[in-house]
Amino acid sequence: MSGKNPALPIKDHRFLIVGGASLVGSTTADEFLRRGAKEVVLLDNFSFGSKDAIKHLEGNPRVRVVQGDVMRLHELLKAFEGVDGVLHLAAMMTISMDRDPWAGLDVNIRGAQNVIEAARTNGVKKLVFASSNAVYGYGPGVAGDLVESTPFNSVGAPPAAILYGASKIVGEQLCRDAYRRYGLDYVVLRYSTVYGERQHYRAANALYIIETHDRIKAGERPRVIGDGSESKHFVYVGDVARANAAAFEAKATDVQVNVSGPAPTTTLELVQMVCEATGSDLKPEHVEPPAGKVRLTSGGAFKIDHTAAGKAIGWKPEVDMREGIRRLIEWRDETGA
Ligand SMILES: NC(=O)c1ccc[n+]([C@@H]2O[C@H](COP(=O)([O-])OP(=O)(O)OC[C@H]3O[C@@H](n4cnc5c(N)ncnc54)[C@H](O)[C@@H]3O)[C@@H](O)[C@H]2O)c1
Repeated sequence: MSGKNPALPIKDHRFLIVGGASLVGSTTADEFLRRGAKEVVLLDNFSFGSKDAIKHLEGNPRVRVVQGDVMRLHELLKAFEGVDGVLHLAAMMTISMDRDPWAGLDVNIRGAQNVIEAARTNGVKKLVFASSNAVYGYGPGVAGDLVESTPFNSVGAPPAAILYGASKIVGEQLCRDAYRRYGLDYVVLRYSTVYGERQHYRAANALYIIETHDRIKAGERPRVIGDGSESKHFVYVGDVARANAAAFEAKATDVQVNVSGPAPTTTLELVQMVCEATGSDLKPEHVEPPAGKVRLTSGGAFKIDHTAAGKAIGWKPEVDMREGIRRLIEWRDETGA
C-alpha cells in the first residue's frame, strides 16, 4: 500500500494532461477548470491533436500549452515539475496502429513507461491512465456483459486492433508495476468508444457516426454495414471528462474500471439516430464492409458494464446516445467541422 491518501481534489491543484490537444483532453481541461484547478498544462506533440481542439482555452491564465513528446523522457521530466496529477491520454489508436504498428507500439508502451517514470521522479501524487475496452479484444468471442475481469479475445479481430488492445494491457500493467514498486497511486479508466464535440476521424467506431452525418450532408443514403445488428457501446466525451476528474478525486487507487455510456446500441440504431438528429428522411442502405478499411466487428450483443466505476470512483454516465448525437451534430453544423 502507498500509505498516502490517494484522493486528489481538482480544486486548487495542478494537473498535466499528456496528449492534451485531443478529443478527451480538450473536454477534460474544461472540466478541470470548471472544478477550480489551479493550473491545467496541456502537453502534446500535435501529431494528431490540433491547436483547433484547444483554441477555446487560449488566453486562459490557468492553462499552459507545452509542446512535448512522450518518447522524449527529458521533456516529460521538465514538464511534470510541480504537477500534482497527470492524466495520460497520448496514444495511437487502431486506425493509426494499422498504418504504422511500430510507432504505435512505441508511443503506447514506451510512452506510457516514460510518463510513469517522469511522474514518480517528480513526486506526482496520482496518475490516471486512459485505457480502452480494446483490452477485451474484438470479434465474435466478445459477447454478453464485459466486466473488468473479462479476458482478452484476439480471435477474428484485425491485427491492428489486437496490437492496440495489447498495448493498452501493457500500459495498465506498467501502472500496476509502478504502484507495487514505488507506491505511485493510479486509476485505469477503460473508456468505451468516445464521441462528442471536437470529434475526430481517428477512432474506428466513432466513424460510424460522423461518416453517416457526412453522407447525409452530401445528400447520400447513409450506409449500414451488414444487417446492422452489431453491438457498439459509446460514451459521451463530457461523461469521460467527469470520469477523469472523479478518478483523481476518489480515494481509489490501483484499480481498473470501465467507463461506458448508459447503454449499448446497434449500428442500425446508430444510423437511425443520426438521421433523426439531422431531420433526414434518407433511407439507410445495407452494404458489405468496405475493402481495405479496419473494421471492428462484434458478433453477438455485448454491453460494457460500468458498475465497478460507480463503486470505485462514484461515477456513472449522464448523457444518452440520442442526446450526445444531437450535441455532436449541432457542434459539427455550427463549426462546419
Ligand atoms: N476516442 C476513443 O474512442 C477512445 C476509446 C477508448 C480509449 N481511448 C483512449 O483515450 C485517449 C484519448 O483519446 P482521444 O480520442 O482523445 O485521442 P486523440 O487521438 O484525439 O488524442 C491523442 C493525443 O495524443 C497526442 N500524441 C500522440 N502521440 C504523441 C506523442 N508521441 N507525444 C505527445 N503527444 C502525442 C496526439 O497529438 C493527440 O492530441 C487515448 O489514449 C485513447 O487510446 C479513446
